[in-house]
Amino acid sequence: MKFFIDTANLDQIKEAEALGVLDGVTTNPSLMAKEGITGQENILNHYVAICEAVEGDVSAEVIATDFEGMVKEGEALAALHPQIVVKIPMIEDGVKALKYFANQGIKTNCTLVFSAGQALLAAKAGATYVSPFIGRLDDISTDGLNLIEEIREIYDNYEFETQILAASVRHTMHVIDCAKIGADVMTGPLSSIKGLLKHPLTDIGLAKFLEDYQKGN
Ligand code: E4P
Repeated sequence: MKFFIDTANLDQIKEAEALGVLDGVTTNPSLMAKEGITGQENILNHYVAICEAVEGDVSAEVIATDFEGMVKEGEALAALHPQIVVKIPMIEDGVKALKYFANQGIKTNCTLVFSAGQALLAAKAGATYVSPFIGRLDDISTDGLNLIEEIREIYDNYEFETQILAASVRHTMHVIDCAKIGADVMTGPLSSIKGLLKHPLTDIGLAKFLEDYQKGN
């Protein structure tokens, strides 16, 4: 299972990378704005900075919502750095753009996916990754993990190569449940990754080992 971090914050990206378990980064326009990264040039420079801070795929989202606009923007994003994956929204022109980029050999991440039908379309169009937003489904009393299960079953039935990227992960239990279901990737905040470390018995056990070592020395 790949671990992506879902942020545009360089310090957090570097902290996750330093842990040695990071496989990539996802961003979106809201996450860029949260870091105060605005204006086309600054945004593009920030994508390059993220690529230089990590090994692995870095999703960069198009703003255009028409086919021609998405193609133009996506090609410019892909040309920025070999690690860039073009993030395309699940809309009609987006499906056409996914197919276009698949034919060009450019990696894509189909975002804003909330149903199995949308995930099936993304796979048919040749998306590299599909991003079902589990946290946002949970937010509206709908089982986000159930969607991951449905997509896993459908993709396995037909051996689609599109990777299931569980997105909108909010906490450690999302990560663990996604791993049990067989999501290929999860993207979440740094806290959802570092939270996996924690167990009080580890802390108590380590304190005791150190205490006993001190007694014998
Ligand atoms: C995915 O790529 C999105 O950036 C992200 O996971 C959305 O998460 P949120 O619902 O916590 O905003």
